[in-house]
Amino acid sequence: MPKLGVNVDHVATLREARGGIEPDPLWAASICEQAGCDSIVAHLREDRRHINDLDVRKLKRNVKSRFNLEMSINPEIVERAKKILPHQATLVPERRQELTTEGGLSVNKYKKKIGIVVEALKRKGIEVSIFIDPKPSEIFAAKTIGVEIIEIHTGRYSLARTQKAVGREYRKIKQAVEYALSLGLEVNAGHGLDYSNVKRIARIKGINELNIGHSIISRAIFSGLYKAVRDMKRLIR
Ligand code: PXP
Repeated sequence: MPKLGVNVDHVATLREARGGIEPDPLWAASICEQAGCDSIVAHLREDRRHINDLDVRKLKRNVKSRFNLEMSINPEIVERAKKILPHQATLVPERRQELTTEGGLSVNKYKKKIGIVVEALKRKGIEVSIFIDPKPSEIFAAKTIGVEIIEIHTGRYSLARTQKAVGREYRKIKQAVEYALSLGLEVNAGHGLDYSNVKRIARIKGINELNIGHSIISRAIFSGLYKAVRDMKRLIR
């Protein structure tokens, strides 16, 4: 059974909507851990649009499972990561205007740059994963630069709308997982997974961990809203 990493970025997105102190992603992380998740994921973006430097320091200090820091290969972020020392760093591409990570990091295109970052983080004792598209050439390139973990991008599978397209994207992921395992890589997967599409991916043999954020935080609003209103009514009364 794959493990579950919960991405708490969107708890910080909600906090930033008001610029205050709540909701706190660390509090969310603690609840996720009590509920049985296996790791906490947060993306320290270059523009700090949600998770900020204090959040990652607090997460590193208090997360009891594993803290997986998503990050770009921007030198400023790499320096931060070397100080924060998360258990794991997942390298992702980052564009300022995007709403979310839009594709995998192209290892073939940025092999040298990524290789230097991987080496620097590993030297600090951080486990390094690279978020890549389900393409054999990218998986092979990741292996050659010395990473031991990859995360397969499931975004195209999640966005596919016809049965044919879903099947095609699913097969790409399954084959990518099998190929990566044959190279001795640890394989994670994530992006866009939700309560309707996760089962099929979770059944693929050999996936170590699924990283899921948006759908869990979205559902949490509705599973908690009833009690939140009741609590407020009680106080008013
Ligand atoms: N994995 C990676 C590498 C990501 O960048 C993200 C989004 O931050 C996720 C998983 C989680 O995606 P989602 O929020 O769509 O579940």
